[in-house]
Amino acid sequence: MTTQAHWERVYATRSHTEVSWYQREPRVSLALIERVAPARSAAILDVGGGASTLVDALLVRGYTNLGVLDIAAGALGAAHDRLGARGDTVAWLAADVLHYPFTPQSVDVWHDRAVFHFLTEAADRRAYVAQATAAVCPGGHIIVATFAIDGPAQCSGLDVCRYSPDLLHEEFGAGFDLVAHTFEEHITPTGGAQRFQYSVLARR
Ligand SMILES: C[S@@+](CC[C@H](N)C(=O)[O-])C[C@H]1O[C@@H](n2cnc3c(N)ncnc32)[C@H](O)[C@@H]1O
Repeated sequence: MTTQAHWERVYATRSHTEVSWYQREPRVSLALIERVAPARSAAILDVGGGASTLVDALLVRGYTNLGVLDIAAGALGAAHDRLGARGDTVAWLAADVLHYPFTPQSVDVWHDRAVFHFLTEAADRRAYVAQATAAVCPGGHIIVATFAIDGPAQCSGLDVCRYSPDLLHEEFGAGFDLVAHTFEEHITPTGGAQRFQYSVLARR
């Protein structure tokens, strides 16, 4: 099964509140985004955002330049339906992050929760870093949340790579400074605990 078929099937068979990564309030992501991009005009892209409620919360906080990119069009449709007309100002991009033709230096904050960790091939991680490096403007930020070193080895039935903030920074290389990190114990809808790390990288 292709990556796209896997994710389309996930979102076709479960509501966005049933998936293990569901958060009613993406508290850590919001705090980090508001910290690095207090201006409400900042260009914020939720990469692999799926049907996450992050975009809802950013709209409520007055952010006006928002995009959500995901390989599963069904997830973006669910999020847009949930938001109704409030979601009409959001750029909904149904695409593979590894191949999307980003406008160079067009993003102030690139947010990724639980997407990069699926890239188990080094070549895919290099492609992702090249995409992020091109898309984020100098002085902009990348926020990457992955399962922590002591987090689960799989997500959605797929193997993942687990990271410490330092290991994650190594993947992104010298073009970025690691400026902050934090950890979160995510409780899944069925009550399981998953440890995440969130790293904030500043584009030089
Ligand atoms: C575990 S979910 C996390 C969703 C969301 N970030 C959140 O925290 O609620 C992973 C998401 O990444 C998307 N995804 C996986 N591979 C992708 C790729 N290559 N390009 C874009 N999206 C991808 C999936 O469709 C799915 O929505």
